[in-house]
Amino acid sequence: MPDFPQAHSTQFIPDSPALAAGGAAGIVGTPGTSVATAAIEVAGLSKRVADASGELTILHQLDFTVQRAETLAIVGASGSGKSTLLGLLAGLDTPSTGTVRLDGTDIFALDEDGRAALRKHKLGFVFQSFQLLPHLTALENAMLPLELQGDADARPKAEAMLGRVGLGSRLKHYPKFLSGGEQQRVALARAFVTEPPLLFADEPTGSLDAATGEAVIQLMFELNRERGSTLVLVTHDPSIAARCGRTITIAAGRLV
Ligand SMILES: Nc1ncnc2c1ncn2[C@@H]1O[C@H](COP(=O)(O)OP(=O)(O)OP(=O)(O)O)[C@@H](O)[C@H]1O
Ligand SMILES: [Mg+2]
Repeated sequence: MPDFPQAHSTQFIPDSPALAAGGAAGIVGTPGTSVATAAIEVAGLSKRVADASGELTILHQLDFTVQRAETLAIVGASGSGKSTLLGLLAGLDTPSTGTVRLDGTDIFALDEDGRAALRKHKLGFVFQSFQLLPHLTALENAMLPLELQGDADARPKAEAMLGRVGLGSRLKHYPKFLSGGEQQRVALARAFVTEPPLLFADEPTGSLDAATGEAVIQLMFELNRERGSTLVLVTHDPSIAARCGRTITIAAGRLV
């Protein structure tokens, strides 16, 4: 990973007082939202699916709150429901019961377009399986969320973020010509490039060697510190969980 340290030369410089104060003043771009509103409020959240033997309950009546600028680790055994929970928090899946409020907004009271708009402006999501678009280059993948926001500086911002994750020399590569760890870093760049107030990452270091994983974790915590981003990480790595302000453990779909 020789080129990763240079990635840290580009710092996030808050370009407006509102952004600079993001942690204290709350989620950026939400006029009229109370400072007291939590970043994430989960109440009575359940997920049931039909399976071969009838019905499977993946998540059982979860209740928890994440404050703004908090760093939260979600841990638990494989199959305990962590990815399902993260998908629900992001409004990528619908619950069987319960509510998720992001910055005070009940996301399941919105229609799909409303949820998509909220994700576009507030959320960065790193999938366990990367979910890069195969017909777009690394740079085009990373530019996409900015283009969706109509950002005229999509290219330089995406280039800078790919540089920051150590992929400055891989801009024109398609995902199939990138290693697993490189694809993961493109996915991270894509999630971070809009500097979202909510950052959700599912096993963000799962495919990375120790040094690269450490750099990626540092990048996420920097965003948390510099931007006041709320960070929710699913991880199997106890040392990463220990660096978060709080850890919640899921066992067979329940908080323990
Ligand atoms: N749509 C679905 N239909 C049936 N079962 C599902 C569905 N989605 C998830 N599951 C099951 O729910 C359980 C929880 O899955 P989930 O992916 O949330 O686990 P996880 O905690 O993220 O595991 P890992 O650490 O392996 O990533 C698993 O047993 C999975 O097989
Ligand atoms: Mg998972």
